[in-house]
Amino acid sequence: MGQINTCIFDLDGVIVDTAKYHYIAWKALANELGFDFTEHDNERLKGVSRMTSLNILLEIGGVTLSDEEKEKLAEKKNENYRTYILKMQPDEIMPGAKSFLEDLKNRGFKIALGSASKNAMTILNRLELTHLFDAIIDGTKVSEAKPDPEVFLKGAQELGTSPSDCVVFEDAEAGVEAALAGGMKCVGIGSPEHLGKAHLVVDGLHQMTYEKLLALNE
Ligand code: BG6
Ligand code: MG
Repeated sequence: MGQINTCIFDLDGVIVDTAKYHYIAWKALANELGFDFTEHDNERLKGVSRMTSLNILLEIGGVTLSDEEKEKLAEKKNENYRTYILKMQPDEIMPGAKSFLEDLKNRGFKIALGSASKNAMTILNRLELTHLFDAIIDGTKVSEAKPDPEVFLKGAQELGTSPSDCVVFEDAEAGVEAALAGGMKCVGIGSPEHLGKAHLVVDGLHQMTYEKLLALNE
């Protein structure tokens, strides 16, 4: 049994609510293709890579396209999405996230990002949070998507930490599975109904404390 000394954070849905911008951009694309895309459908895209998201969207619309066409559409959606994230402000950081990160840093924990997003650096810079991370593993650095543990294992490796000394904060079921598959502890951010496999589930980082973190060692 390790002692937790490293915290690895997912980005979207844990530190910032980007799902609303992903939704606007995916919906615009669906509408262009002639079908609707609801907020309920959008739930299926959380934690999922850009291309997998597009495949789910096309399945909903009953549309079949070539790989080349799909690449173009994914790029188009991303350009639209980036117009929103490029306007993001630090006040969009989710409640309690920054103070929890700062508290961990002050207590000597190592902090990593473990995100599927290829836009993670842009978002962290906009939110003025980049300096709080000792390692940043994002969608540009991994080949396997969650629930594969690659993104989290790379974070541990870059920090020279053993997986059993890491705790992952995740809002997506695939992310919780990835953390567990990597031999790490996991705190689910959201509802116990979806994230029941996590060691602890809280509503948001505003509910996280050092004491709750320590209790995960037991
Ligand atoms: C994840 C989001 O963090 O990143 C997904 O939860 C998103 O919804 C994925 O599809 C990839 O993001 P991006 O920014 O590379 O398109
Ligand atoms: Mg997420």
